[in-house]
Amino acid sequence: MTEELCPKMFPTTQLEEADGEGHNASANPTMGEIISRRFSRRNFLQGSLAVSAIAATVSPVALMTAEKARAATGSAFSFPEVEAGVDAHHHVAEGYDADVLLRWGDALFPDSPDFDPANQTAEAQAKQFGYNNDYVGFIPIDGAADHGFLVVNHEYTNPHLMFPGLVKVVDGKVEQGPLSKEQVDVEMAAHGGTIVEIRRVDGKWQVVRDGANNRRITVNTEMQLTGPAAGHDRLKTSADETGTKVIGTVNNCAGGVTPWGTYIMAEENFHGYFMGDLPADHPEAANYERYGVPEGSYEWGRFYDRFDLSKEPNEPNRFGWVVEVDVMDPSSTPKKRTALGRTKHEGAESIVADNGKVVFYLGDDERFDYVYKFVTDGTYNPDDRAANMDLLDAGTLYVAKFEEDGTMEWLPLVHGQGPLTEENGFASQADVLIETRRAGDVLGATKMDRPEDIQPNSVNGKVYVMLTNNTKRKPDQVNAANPRAENAFGHIIEISEADGDFSATKGKWEVMLKCGDPSVAEVGATFSTETTKNGWFGMPDNCAVDSAGRLWVATDGNSNKATGRTDGLWAVDTEGDARATSKLFFRVPVGAEMCGPLFAPDDETAFVAVQHPGDGGEDWDGHGRPSYYEDLSTRWPDFKDDMPVRPSVLAITKIGGGKIAV
Ligand code: FEO
Ligand code: CA
Ligand code: CA
Ligand code: CA
Repeated sequence: MTEELCPKMFPTTQLEEADGEGHNASANPTMGEIISRRFSRRNFLQGSLAVSAIAATVSPVALMTAEKARAATGSAFSFPEVEAGVDAHHHVAEGYDADVLLRWGDALFPDSPDFDPANQTAEAQAKQFGYNNDYVGFIPIDGAADHGFLVVNHEYTNPHLMFPGLVKVVDGKVEQGPLSKEQVDVEMAAHGGTIVEIRRVDGKWQVVRDGANNRRITVNTEMQLTGPAAGHDRLKTSADETGTKVIGTVNNCAGGVTPWGTYIMAEENFHGYFMGDLPADHPEAANYERYGVPEGSYEWGRFYDRFDLSKEPNEPNRFGWVVEVDVMDPSSTPKKRTALGRTKHEGAESIVADNGKVVFYLGDDERFDYVYKFVTDGTYNPDDRAANMDLLDAGTLYVAKFEEDGTMEWLPLVHGQGPLTEENGFASQADVLIETRRAGDVLGATKMDRPEDIQPNSVNGKVYVMLTNNTKRKPDQVNAANPRAENAFGHIIEISEADGDFSATKGKWEVMLKCGDPSVAEVGATFSTETTKNGWFGMPDNCAVDSAGRLWVATDGNSNKATGRTDGLWAVDTEGDARATSKLFFRVPVGAEMCGPLFAPDDETAFVAVQHPGDGGEDWDGHGRPSYYEDLSTRWPDFKDDMPVRPSVLAITKIGGGKIAV
């Protein structure tokens, strides 16, 4: 979700970054924000004019980049670019349809009640599509490209957009009242994930409402802790003396689909769901401080003891994991795989290395936190699905150290190796995994600018790391892999693993792209000069590669104030002279964030998730005031007076059929 560009008057809308080394409580605008305000509306001059404008003020290194960019000979993407901007609607490139497939409240089962937003209940919500769709995955049925399971994470809830009568304007100021238990129950049922069968008929995707495997996973779904930390004392609560049984999953941001067709839900900002104080001198105090627990955005602890630290002090250790779900068995118990560590997991995209081991790339989304990968001990068996089902319980978790010379090392988080010893407070591998961040600290991992989605690319053998922004990085904290102080717009790193082996412990890296408005020299963006005024973006977040290996970037945090444009989906060249050329393919309505994206196996559909539409609009002339249930900045996608704004998954197809962008 957007880090700091959202309105602050809605306490449960938005999880702040945890306190810690990166947190700065002052309200002072950063230089990056000032730059973005001054220049966001300026047009980008294409070609040599822009290069000379940049050349007047920037360093020799940037000049070299500009020279390289000038040689660009054109994007590999042929679609007509969307015009960047802000309004109440979504926009897709001409020649394409963007059809709404699933909206918040849509029926998923034959007996799902009709959506009645003014009278929503938890029982209804548990049978309907959840809120704030984020990760989107597709698991084919019998190898089909037009029939399969769509898996979708529901990251968080926006009560001020969901519930009537919650927001009041008092003395000209907007206040959100406390939530009732019924509203909290709706929130809990609107979180989690959806597994739903879908089919393409005559070129259009349809939900198969009576699909036998359709399932909602919520904050009330029983889960099992597995792997090296399962059963440890630090995971036991009064409701679970085994330390292996957890009720629910929260803040499922990005995710993944494994090669064996299971659904990965990554638990990200879990700190916001806990309230209350730990008992005095509790041994978890330092651990929780490192994760910003409790943050108290949500009010669930008022009604459910497990979210109140004073009553269940170990419960936060049971969140922050990667969850694996077997979509083939709708009664299966989702598994929290502790071997992959406990962080604010953005996602878990995977690839099979040449040696058969499966490699998962994991970003920990917080300022100054780390990039990880997990390599299974066992190897993938493409002929025996059952043999792969517990691959995620044994393997090595690594944290990335990016050296100044463009090399890198993956440092193993293995108890007993290096400083991960009893003397340093790690009595077992369970301690290393429960305190993954501190293990990364003592190993000397590189502090990054908020690692989001990380995507391995099987076509060109590279790995793409989205680093969304970090306005708290000071000039003396700059390093080669995080080259800008007050990094308001983020950047993308490209990793080349040693010998093309995704399971390698060494590699090389380079900054592929520094984001932001390239017409403003102070921003230091490095898009190619072929990139138009519509083509640049800030705040890369989720990403995908299509089957041709081309990179598509979804953003989180663009707005009228920040960049003069909404979030969207940009196609980015990675190869040849056109490298770092970006084109806008789709943009979201005001207040929304772009999630997904995902290409169907035949590349003929791009699924995108429009998250928190209408959450904002103060900075846009078309609204110009806070947005809430009764006074929304958009009523996307239905545009009916009695229907609130609805987060939705869209299926984008080419009119007349064919691959999305050739
Ligand atoms: Fe949920 Fe890091 O975005
Ligand atoms: Ca996001
Ligand atoms: Ca984000
Ligand atoms: Ca992705």
